[in-house]
Amino acid sequence: MTSHTPSNEPQNGESPEPNDPVLREGPEPSEKGAPVPFWLTILASVIIFWAGIQLALNSGGFRVDVYNPSLVSWSGGGGGGPAAPPDPKVIGKRLYNQNCAVCHQSSGMGVAGQFPPLVASEWVVGGDWVGDNHLVKILLAGMQGPVQVKGTTYNNAMPPWSQLKDEQIAAVLTYIRSEWGNAAVPITADYVKSIRAASGDRKEPWSQKELKVIPTETISAGAGAPPAPPAAPASPAPAAPPAA
Ligand code: HEC
Repeated sequence: MTSHTPSNEPQNGESPEPNDPVLREGPEPSEKGAPVPFWLTILASVIIFWAGIQLALNSGGFRVDVYNPSLVSWSGGGGGGPAAPPDPKVIGKRLYNQNCAVCHQSSGMGVAGQFPPLVASEWVVGGDWVGDNHLVKILLAGMQGPVQVKGTTYNNAMPPWSQLKDEQIAAVLTYIRSEWGNAAVPITADYVKSIRAASGDRKEPWSQKELKVIPTETISAGAGAPPAPPAAPASPAPAAPPAA
């Protein structure tokens, strides 16, 4: 009876291959004292030089208000001065990306089933019964519970943003009302201020149900793009002579 030998078994008395990696490898390589290659030194210098130029050109003179929007002077000053007031849309975009984009996305499209869209939302640009007052109120106190946006119901919660200044809320709202094809008039800081005053110190987030019974208001900013100077100065008409 011939026994069957498996093919991988050493035959003819050959010694097995040294399969142990330790037996095959040579000594560890070493760098010894090799100097840094010349081309690498040149490359590093070029990169540092280039970075310096970028910094010099784009640092905005290291002005604090370039980096910290809360330090921006909003005093207005009627434009035309040496330092014109910052464009609310630029500030608004930055505030949006810092505070809102995490949920509503930088595209303004939100996240299906979780965060409603702002693009073409009746809450943002106005709707049948949704006014500018409702929009500002949501921002100041937050919103929770079932809400319909463009025919889809969401049921989640948005935190309040009352910690932002009137100017900042105005800027972020002006941004979302004019971005992504939205085209509604800007919201002014004065308007935010008036809504803040009217809402008292309400902290509890609004529900759609509650908002629906509050009459719709629209900002009467007169199609204004620039934050127009305080209306037409009422002509100091020679008032009726004071009753002596
Ligand atoms: C933590 C996530 C989150 C952040 C951050 C957030 N929101 Fe919201 N937002 C929501 C949710 C959730 C709703 C819907 C609340 C509900 O279901 O009642 C909502 C609703 C809204 C609405 C009304 C509905 C709509 O889609 O038009 C507006 C307007 C809005 N948010 C604007 C903003 C702005 C402006 C900011 C930044 C200052 C912001 N949100 C930051 C989650 C967020």
